[in-house]
Amino acid sequence: MLAEKYADRIEKIFSKYPDKRSAIMDLLYLAQEEYGWLSGDALEEVAALVDVDPTQAHSIAGFYTMYSEKPKGKYWFQVCTDLPCALRGADDFYQALCEYLGVEDGGTTEDGLFTVEQVMCLAACDRAPMMQCNFHYHENLDLDKVKALVEQLRQEAAAAQGE
Ligand code: FES
Repeated sequence: MLAEKYADRIEKIFSKYPDKRSAIMDLLYLAQEEYGWLSGDALEEVAALVDVDPTQAHSIAGFYTMYSEKPKGKYWFQVCTDLPCALRGADDFYQALCEYLGVEDGGTTEDGLFTVEQVMCLAACDRAPMMQCNFHYHENLDLDKVKALVEQLRQEAAAAQGE
């Protein structure tokens, strides 16, 4: 449970806000970090921490693209295919990435490592094609660059498993 495992961190989050409810987005991040995604149980847990109805936690998680209400891979690729990025080749880049990883739009690789999805503007329009991976930006991408990143992440995941 988050409350026990992260008592100090949660207290620190609460201290930043005038009331508990205002901390809900930070706590959703914490829950997603802990569980990998926001299940119904995770949303209820966060809702209980800030004393709101679980439907409020659901509505916030459903509104923002940085939260996921379905299981996803260890590495979460969110590719902007909004119009300005599309004009710089983001659609073709996204299709090539999906083909390279062998997944459909929004899919996860069989090894559970990579989830790929399209998102709206991430405010890096002049550096498209771009994506964020677990909230870190990667810009001016092409297929070769993303292949190198995928390989690096595969090696990191393998190394982490060997620890
Ligand atoms: S439209 Fe893609 S980052 Fe702005």
